Amino acid sequence: MDWGMKNRISRIIKPDGRTLMFAVDHGYFMGPTTGLEKLDETIEPLLPYADTLMLTRGALRNYVSPAADLPIILRVSSGTSIINPMLLHEGISVSIEEAIRLNVSAVAFSIMVGAEYERDTILGFSQVIDEAERYGIPTLAVTAVGRGLERDARYLGLATRIAAELGARIVKTYYCEGFESVVESCPVPVVIAGGKKVPEKDALQVACNAIQSGAAGVDMGRNIFQSEDPVAMVQAVRAIVHDNSSPAEAFELFNELKR
Ligand code: R5P
Repeated sequence: MDWGMKNRISRIIKPDGRTLMFAVDHGYFMGPTTGLEKLDETIEPLLPYADTLMLTRGALRNYVSPAADLPIILRVSSGTSIINPMLLHEGISVSIEEAIRLNVSAVAFSIMVGAEYERDTILGFSQVIDEAERYGIPTLAVTAVGRGLERDARYLGLATRIAAELGARIVKTYYCEGFESVVESCPVPVVIAGGKKVPEKDALQVACNAIQSGAAGVDMGRNIFQSEDPVAMVQAVRAIVHDNSSPAEAFELFNELKR
């Protein structure tokens, strides 16, 4: 691994081997997602507690100051919106030159293993990996789950391992029962998405379960920015990711910090 690749990964995954990725890329297929209507106002107080920010190039240009000192994970796949019944057919939407111009620390691409268009997404991701590796830019595979597919350890283990075999440097997936086996059979760091908004206590429990099962961290969005108190929630998630807090301790912290 060359210096540039190592440097970028070390900006994302901290010396304790963990990372709190804050995901606000939802608009690329969901439009003005609840909580992100004024994306800049939502994220501004949260940035001091995030290790990285995951978003689209449009959001980066329009809502984030170029002076912000935070590694960026740039979404480079899209193609279908939430109102399209063919959701989950994504291709390359941003060139590697644009990723370099924007000085990002990694690029993220969704693959749809088991879905109708898996071949397109796998080959598109492979092309992104080839181009990104040429410039020492790590790739984050987002293992999206197609309709009718079970989010169990067998499926997520398959999708995660395929992503790593393709060349992903980090893989994002979902937490499930038996998550240890998903992590154990993946040779690169695994992070979990938060998923739909659930009560804070439940989201903290899932984050903790994932960390205890070997995840390198979270790539969490809605359960932070849609929380009743996003600033308190991001700090509670951070306590789990970096301080090994229990779910109860983290929830207590959330309640203490809550305004
Ligand atoms: C989905 O593909 C997007 O990349 C989201 O950023 C990701 O799912 C993480 O956000 P959330 O925690 O809201 O699921």
